[in-house]
Amino acid sequence: MNASLNGKTVIVIGGSSGIGAAVAKAAAARGAQVVLAGRRLTSGVEDGLRSEPVDVTDTASLQRLFETVGRFDHLVYTSGPSVRAKPLIETDLIEAQENFNVKLWGALRAIQQALPYLDQHGSISLTSGQLGRKLAPGQFIKTGINAATEALGKQLAKELAPRRVNVVSPGVIDTPAYAGLAEEQRLAMFAKAGAGLSVGRVGQAEEVAAGYVLAMENGFMTGAIIDIDGGGLL
Ligand SMILES: NC(=O)c1ccc[n+]([C@@H]2O[C@H](COP(=O)([O-])OP(=O)(O)OC[C@H]3O[C@@H](n4cnc5c(N)ncnc54)[C@H](OP(=O)(O)O)[C@@H]3O)[C@@H](O)[C@H]2O)c1
Repeated sequence: MNASLNGKTVIVIGGSSGIGAAVAKAAAARGAQVVLAGRRLTSGVEDGLRSEPVDVTDTASLQRLFETVGRFDHLVYTSGPSVRAKPLIETDLIEAQENFNVKLWGALRAIQQALPYLDQHGSISLTSGQLGRKLAPGQFIKTGINAATEALGKQLAKELAPRRVNVVSPGVIDTPAYAGLAEEQRLAMFAKAGAGLSVGRVGQAEEVAAGYVLAMENGFMTGAIIDIDGGGLL
């Protein structure tokens, strides 16, 4: 085991699935005490990982999470909504606001509640996505959320120093985020997306998790956007 996060406490909000679950496993393998948080989780310990319930749209729920865990070293935020791609003209803006509320306002709410407990030498890792800078018709919600997250990551890196703040920007990654598609449709979508990439395939959650581990471990990294997208932005 590489024990670089030995003795550190890492909270992964969004740790119940996909990229967040992979970050939790990677951090635990490097010696961290990991707390996973998400709506579908209950308080408990399984396979050495502690879990706690949280709903990022609810400030009181976040307050309870940080009170329960106490002092900690690294916050990882991967919670994200399921977004339906649609042109602006056809979009229900209340639904769009709910999407922003989970990923963008949820991150700000989480950071605000976390700060009294987050070590001065600790870090915050947020999650954007390549659509923040890769523009496509029908994707204004993801573009807006992800671009704002990247701007905030940099702004907060200034404001919250010496705590470090970084943003991981994934490309298309095979996670349960696509579980709503029928298997055949999902595999066809991954094959098509992968064929358009320099690396010829879509990514795995473990590959993206490595970016968060880097952001937590590297004490000289702050205000960075870490692109892990198989060349999707090239
Ligand atoms: N997969 C991709 O291709 C891709 C590409 C670019 C960016 N991203 C970004 O990467 C992040 C992780 O995505 P993923 O692919 O790992 O998706 P995922 O497997 O669907 O995970 C989404 C996570 O968000 C949590 N979540 C949703 N609403 C929440 C709420 N109200 N309160 C607390 N947690 C909430 C879910 O936990 P509960 O259900 O337990 O609440 C779940 O753990 C997202 O921000 C996504 O936008 C993903």
